[in-house]
Amino acid sequence: MAQYNLNINGKTHQVDVDPNTPLLWVLRDHLDLVGTKFGCGIAQCGACTVHVEGNAIRSCSYPVSAIEDKKVVTIEGLSEKGDHPVQKAWLEHDVPQCGYCQSGQIMTAVSLLNQNSNPTDEEISQAMNGNICRCGTYTRIKAAIKTASK
Ligand code: FES
Repeated sequence: MAQYNLNINGKTHQVDVDPNTPLLWVLRDHLDLVGTKFGCGIAQCGACTVHVEGNAIRSCSYPVSAIEDKKVVTIEGLSEKGDHPVQKAWLEHDVPQCGYCQSGQIMTAVSLLNQNSNPTDEEISQAMNGNICRCGTYTRIKAAIKTASK
């Protein structure tokens, strides 16, 4: 066990965990930030995507020891009232079906738009390629990203 001071959504949290504990479990089990989801656990589906220093990462495969002194943002910290432009576009296009993968989808989309404010269809497809949606909401996801990029 080791103690870590973590900067999550602009607040400092202290946790006492094994250094190899995936960030996902710290978020969900220690900090009750359950908007970030467990899908595959092996960095293949994107359900657990959060931002570390503004970059989208897979928190299921990211040890807590690697994030000390770095800024982490989860879906809960993206906006005060769920009104980030990407979240608004998601609502406008009624994107979710079951909803399970959507926080990861949104975090990946926000990371894309932070790096490229006006992505082409091809760039959107490439950026979102690793985020799996079992309901197949891909067409609406792409449309929402286009709307948010305007
Ligand atoms: Fe992390 Fe699937 S749960 S990528």
